[in-house]
Order: sequence, then structure tokens, then C-alpha cells
Amino acid sequence: MLGGGFPQGRVILISGGPGAGKTNLSLQFIASAADEGDPGVYVTLEEPLELIRQNIDGFDWKIIEKEVKNKIRLLDFYSVSFLFTAYELRDRRDRDSVTSILEGIEKAVKNIEAKNIVIDPITTLTLQEVRAGAKRRMIADLFTSLRRIGCTTIITSEMSSSRDFMVEEFLADGVIRLSKHIENFQMVSVLRIEKMRGIKYDDQPRRYAITSRGFTVFQAEPVLI
Ligand SMILES: Nc1ncnc2c1ncn2[C@@H]1O[C@H](COP(=O)(O)OP(=O)(O)O)[C@@H](O)[C@H]1O
Ligand SMILES: [Mg+2]
Repeated sequence: MLGGGFPQGRVILISGGPGAGKTNLSLQFIASAADEGDPGVYVTLEEPLELIRQNIDGFDWKIIEKEVKNKIRLLDFYSVSFLFTAYELRDRRDRDSVTSILEGIEKAVKNIEAKNIVIDPITTLTLQEVRAGAKRRMIADLFTSLRRIGCTTIITSEMSSSRDFMVEEFLADGVIRLSKHIENFQMVSVLRIEKMRGIKYDDQPRRYAITSRGFTVFQAEPVLI
């Protein structure tokens, strides 16, 4: 659909509801890029790393093997993002946690000469900022810092059904949307590329599924929505 993968050095969002497969897709991307010779850094902000390790145990991605060989670095910032209460974070103007996460990412990127970064999800970082203007600036600053690091960055975003577009979708270089639909009492999972600056892409919605082989997008099946 991308005609050769994610555009390099850009910030790309994967947005979707709970259980859509954002964590699966982004980890599978990091693992398969590492197989092709591009090391990657994955940052978890919402799910403890130990639980993620358990979840992906069944997939043949050989994450632990790749960590040992410095092809992958998994960073657990789960504790950072929940260290302060929302009230305290608002008082601190929430800069500190974002800065320390960025520093951690940069260090890991240098360490393993990473080409890809995943931040999963952005929602945790921006949640405490309720002022729309400040939130937009915060996200823009974060994306600018990430582009400066020079890697291709995938950021997952929790899509709420009450809003059509989130501010981060306008600021990112690319957006991939995962959605679920019920059709004749059948669940249909649909992936589509909403935007991808700088490349030509397939904008048709495609069905996908998470199977024992991981995140799989189907080429031919029609999407009945
Ligand atoms: N081994 C597996 N086989 C089949 N489906 C799985 C497997 N592991 C996870 N899933 C599916 O993936 C979903 C969770 O995906 P995840 O990437 O954590 O979603 P998100 O990050 O978008 O909340 C689960 O609800 C389950 O349906
Ligand atoms: Mg997730």
C-alpha cells in the first residue's frame, strides 16, 4: 500500500481504538525492519513492558534475540508517565516527562544506531494538557524533536469515536487508520492510509487481521462498509 515502506525520517501516526492492533503492528514493524538490517527503538508508555513481552511471546518475531544483538531496544517509560498525578503534571507544565523520554530515546538510538523509533501511544503524553493551543504546540515540538533525531518514527494514537480528527493527525507526516465495523453480525477490521506526505500510496481501504502470524493486511478481499 505504501509502495515500498514508510517514508524515511518522517513521523507517522497509527491511530485506532482499543484492541485495533496498534501495538502489534508497530512492534512487528520494528522487528521486521531489524531483520532487514535497520535497528529500532520501541517505547511503551501505557502497557508495562513485561505484559507486552507476554503478549508477543506467541509471535515468531525473536524480539529477545534481537535485543541481545542490539538490533532492538525496548524502553519502558510506563512508570514515568504514571509517576505523577494529573494535577501535579498540570502544575509542572508536563515538560519534564516528555524531555526525559526524548533523552532516553536519543540515547538508545545512538547506542544501537537505530533507524526506526516507535512511541506507543502518544495519548499518554498529551492527556494532561487540556488547553487546545498549548496541546498543539506541545505535539508540534515533540514531532520536531523526533524529526531532528533523524529516524523514521511511528507513533500510535488512541482514536476516540467522538472526534473525527485528532490534532496530532494534522501535524504528522503520515496517518494510518485502523477501524472496526460490524457488517451482518461480522466484525470487519479495516486499515487505510489517510495521508502520507512525500510518496504516492494506495488509498483504498483494506481488510486486516491479527493472526498467529501477526498483523496481516489482505490485498484482494473487498471491504463491505
Ligand atoms: N497471538 C494472537 N493471535 C491472534 N490475535 C491476537 C494475538 N495477540 C493479540 N491478538 C489480538 O490483538 C489485539 C490487541 O492488539 P494490540 O496491538 O494490543 O491493540 P492496541 O494496541 O491497538 O490496543 C487483541 O485484542 C487480540 O485480538
Ligand atoms: Mg496498544
